[in-house]
Amino acid sequence: MLELRNITKHYGARPLADKLSLQVAEGEIVALLGPSGSGKSTLLKIAAGLEAAEAGSVWFDSEDISRQPPERRGFALMFQDFALFPHLDVRDNVAFGLVEQRVAKAQARQRAELMLERFGLAAHTRHRVWTLSGGEQQRVALARALITAPRALLLDEPFSALDAALRLDLQTEFRERIFEAGMATVLVTHDETEARAMATRGLRLVAGHLQQLW
Ligand SMILES: Nc1ncnc2c1ncn2[C@@H]1O[C@H](COP(=O)(O)OP(=O)(O)OP(=O)(O)O)[C@@H](O)[C@H]1O
Ligand SMILES: [Mg+2]
Repeated sequence: MLELRNITKHYGARPLADKLSLQVAEGEIVALLGPSGSGKSTLLKIAAGLEAAEAGSVWFDSEDISRQPPERRGFALMFQDFALFPHLDVRDNVAFGLVEQRVAKAQARQRAELMLERFGLAAHTRHRVWTLSGGEQQRVALARALITAPRALLLDEPFSALDAALRLDLQTEFRERIFEAGMATVLVTHDETEARAMATRGLRLVAGHLQQLW
């Protein structure tokens, strides 16, 4: 269970989080909605350890991880501009997280190939990422996020750069893969239809507080 406890965060005078608490269980997808600038991305960064809160703590399975650096938390992040490495081929992009964890390169590549097969991307294994379509790149980004078997997945507007038809396909596909992997998942999105299609629970961040939508 991923938990934010009594998180407080401001930029200037405006509260982005005001003693805010959130629990996300394994296998649950929680959608985070709210106006632009309300603090959704900031909240994900606090959960990931990329930003510090002024008060409050981040927990995973009854362990206070507030002081752990991002790489020790075992979370995967995926942002809108998915930031694949242009100088690496598809396979090495997916293998990257494993190599970082000191898995031997040959083994990392082998596991990446298996993952890419499951994602319907086997034909692209050795291609440069920029030769893939937007949707394919997004699937590579998800494969890269999931290969390290993260215990939580933090998605920030993962589909916003894609056209409507592709978004629908990827929503269904991502949802299945996330449930299959059984992680605690937070999905930030502007799109309530998308949120309802993917998430078991929907919350709106307004003035530092979370309102439950469903
Ligand atoms: N490092 C920072 N320094 C100063 N202000 C910041 C910083 N990060 C975020 N902010 C401000 O905090 C507010 C919340 O930003 P955040 O990116 O979390 O919003 P958001 O809800 O994700 O918005 P959007 O839906 O547009 O992505 C914004 O007004 C932003 O300008
Ligand atoms: Mg944002």
